[in-house]
Amino acid sequence: MGKKKVAVLISGFGGNLQALIDACAVPGFPAEIAGVISNKAEAYGLTRAKNHNIPSFVVSHKDFKTRDEFDAELHKKLTGFGAEIVCLAGFMRLLTPEFVNKWQGRMINIHPSLLPAFKGGNAVEDALAAGAKKTGCSVHYVIPEMDSGEVITQREVEISAGDNLESLSQKIHTQEHIAYPAALKIVCGKL
Ligand code: GRF
Repeated sequence: MGKKKVAVLISGFGGNLQALIDACAVPGFPAEIAGVISNKAEAYGLTRAKNHNIPSFVVSHKDFKTRDEFDAELHKKLTGFGAEIVCLAGFMRLLTPEFVNKWQGRMINIHPSLLPAFKGGNAVEDALAAGAKKTGCSVHYVIPEMDSGEVITQREVEISAGDNLESLSQKIHTQEHIAYPAALKIVCGKL
């Protein structure tokens, strides 16, 4: 069986993108990265894609009047790559239900908490503020409702008394970079 073609959507640093690139470079891994799309031209993840000769595009939400038009352009680019799976990796845009439904069962996201705990954009801060003893990361299928699709895999992180936003984020990122390739492998096995 051939490798599944994956597109990665990013907005920034691309640490998870790098983890996926590295995993795909391991012989026998069931996926290859066909393309990277960022909604921000300055995203460092675009440099990572270039360094590995992966086609990359900027699709700026600012160039489109509506979410529908933005998502239509994303969809066009994804089909252009021949993408079979879409990985959201720090992609900071909400997607329309129409777009999400087109990729049902084939679009996954990584979130820095043990879902369903701490949904939303401030998951690490929220875990600290709640005085939680542990948090972690989740890779889940994307459905129209944010951070709510079926969880594929999770990894735990202990929160120590001395942890702050930076130290806890760092611990979570380390686990994310293990969790995302593992989840992608599971998804590939189901298609
Ligand atoms: C990660 O913490 C991920 O969980 C969240 O956004 C962050 C992206 O980091 N969705 P990076 O760009 O992959 O380094």
